[in-house]
Amino acid sequence: MSLILAIESSCDDTSAAVLRNNCLLSNVIASQAVHRQFGGVVPELASRAHQQNIVPTVDAAIRNAGIDKRDLDAVAFTRGPGLLGSLLVGVSFAKSFAQALDIPLIEVNHLQAHVLSHFISRQIEGEQFPKFPFMCLLVSGGHTQILLLRSHFDIEVIGNTIDDAAGEAIDKAAKIMDLGYPGGPIIDKLAKDGNPEAFHFATPNIPGYNYSFSGIKTSFLYFLRDRLKEDPDFIENNKADLCASIQNCIVGFLLKKLEKAALAHRVNQVAIAGGVSANSRLRDELTRIGQKHGWHVFLPPIQFCTDNAAMVGIAGYYKYLRGEFADISLPPYTRS
Ligand code: KG4
Ligand code: ZN
Repeated sequence: MSLILAIESSCDDTSAAVLRNNCLLSNVIASQAVHRQFGGVVPELASRAHQQNIVPTVDAAIRNAGIDKRDLDAVAFTRGPGLLGSLLVGVSFAKSFAQALDIPLIEVNHLQAHVLSHFISRQIEGEQFPKFPFMCLLVSGGHTQILLLRSHFDIEVIGNTIDDAAGEAIDKAAKIMDLGYPGGPIIDKLAKDGNPEAFHFATPNIPGYNYSFSGIKTSFLYFLRDRLKEDPDFIENNKADLCASIQNCIVGFLLKKLEKAALAHRVNQVAIAGGVSANSRLRDELTRIGQKHGWHVFLPPIQFCTDNAAMVGIAGYYKYLRGEFADISLPPYTRS
């Protein structure tokens, strides 16, 4: 039996969660609107906002869970990868909190946490968890990886991006069209009224299960530059079709490799995780492909797609079971 407080502060979301064993009791996320006006995360502003948010967020998580902080058994925290100034706030807070309560610390890798979010129990009927081995496409603003999990902590990287991440490419496409930040959810919404086959953008020929997104971004930029010369209102007049087409291009590319990797590794449990896994087309298309092959497909609940502390808590729980505790002197790390 364990009661774990989890803290996430790797980028621009301050989040705290409480888990009893694998069951989620609370998950509070304070997002930072301050970055929108700059069209991307400003690291200095992110760390300042974390400073402001961390105490009320942890306080709310403990209150919502209906527990007493003195009953906590451990504090799990995201050690990295992420922005240094952001990580430092969560890491320092976790250390002082654990020390004050005289309970152990558990360090968590942010990417592993995204993937393990599939094991969070919300105590709802018919809940199912992936069985090992399973394959997971991790798609976020910073990462695009195909992972093969043989156990919670035996994770093999099958494919990786050689340049930009999928989320980064979607956000850049949105920026080119001046749609706002973060672009992923905006493109997803606008695409619902568009034709995904209206425009075609070439995907690069990268060997194996690796990805590359910088070429797609450039071809989108050049395509628009040419069209805007003929029609200055081209973006405005074709917004939904442009969103649907670029989304279709990126999702199609992501799933083509995932499908190939899952078939080659003979897995029938396939999952997606990370911010981009909230994308409705990615979810629908993976469901369709999964039905074709008889796979068991796992789509994370939307609240666990983008950054959150519940996923840090579940990764922390499995480490707790293994007695893997962190030393108070551990520094954060920025790269995976
Ligand atoms: O996992 P996450 O919250 O942060 C990182 O660890 O990077 O992912 C953020 C990314 C952003 O690029 C954002 O645009 C994208 O996830 N995203 C989406 C959607 N919701 C968030 N992309 C496409 N469709 C969505 N619905
Ligand atoms: Zn993330």
